[in-house]
Amino acid sequence: MRVAPRSRPRPASRVGGLAAGIAALAFALVVNAPSRSAAAPGAGDGAGQLFRADCSYCHGTAGQGTELAPTLRGVGRASVYFQLASGRMPLADARATPRRAAPAYSPATIAALVDEVARLTGDTGPTIPEVSPRADVAAGGELYRLDCAACHAWSGEGGALFEREAPSIHAASRIEVAAVIRAGSGNMPAFGQAALSDRQVADVVAYVNELDHSKDPGGNPLWHLGPFAEGLIALGVALPILLAATRWIGERS
Ligand code: HEC
Ligand code: HEC
Repeated sequence: MRVAPRSRPRPASRVGGLAAGIAALAFALVVNAPSRSAAAPGAGDGAGQLFRADCSYCHGTAGQGTELAPTLRGVGRASVYFQLASGRMPLADARATPRRAAPAYSPATIAALVDEVARLTGDTGPTIPEVSPRADVAAGGELYRLDCAACHAWSGEGGALFEREAPSIHAASRIEVAAVIRAGSGNMPAFGQAALSDRQVADVVAYVNELDHSKDPGGNPLWHLGPFAEGLIALGVALPILLAATRWIGERS
């Protein structure tokens, strides 16, 4: 009988088993995270079913809105695309503040849902302007400073705005930037054709793309802390220097 000693697990193998268990659990979580998109068929009836399962509880079966969420009539393809691609929708809790997250669906499923909402609501509202690789980055920069920098800062890092923060814009794809300019979202206003032509939207998108890839956009971003923090640092650093200088001058006279 040589079984007994072996059946007692040694600490090392217990640790190994635990590690393997954690790894398996992590793997299962990662694999199952986008389960909704995995289960979702690409188009047609599948998107209709998906809308009823994932959206209608809050937005109503025809997207007409409920007391939990606003109507989707007239919001346009730009809004639906932006909300889904940036992972803000579907919201888990109607009282939660929508935030950027990994998208719940694949690009094909997002496209099918955008079509489905358009079908349900009569397809009115803004579409997504085309993003052109031949856009004018310099003109985009001027428009950005005029229309966007007040909320998102010169660097695109975002900043403080009323009670809600304007987020960093660096995580957004070019199509998402074009979409949210036309659609607006939360406290961000929509910019219609009268404010920015399709051409100008493309220019802004090109400039934002440039900001994403340059290290020190907007000159001196001070570790990218945002305008408010930068102001505080300016006070904390500049004021003592100023005081010291005044003293020094005072002592000498
Ligand atoms: C738990 C409730 C809930 C679910 C589920 C939900 N939404 Fe929403 N949705 C909201 C709320 C609340 C808002 C308003 C958010 C805000 O502006 O603060 C909203 C906003 C939106 C907007 C922006 C509307 C606008 O005025 O521009 C779109 C588009 C949208 N949802 C699409 C969807 C789609 C498509 C689904 C399903 C895949 C979905 N939502 C699922 C609650 C929900
Ligand atoms: C009045 C302030 C304000 C102005 C002006 C404004 N935004 Fe926004 N922006 C916001 C807020 C607030 C949000 C967050 C919306 C949400 O979470 O639903 C946002 C979100 C965004 C996002 C999405 C970020 C993400 O990670 O999902 C992008 C991209 C963006 N804005 C770009 C722009 C551009 C480009 C302009 C100029 C044409 C602009 N914004 C003008 C306040 C503003």
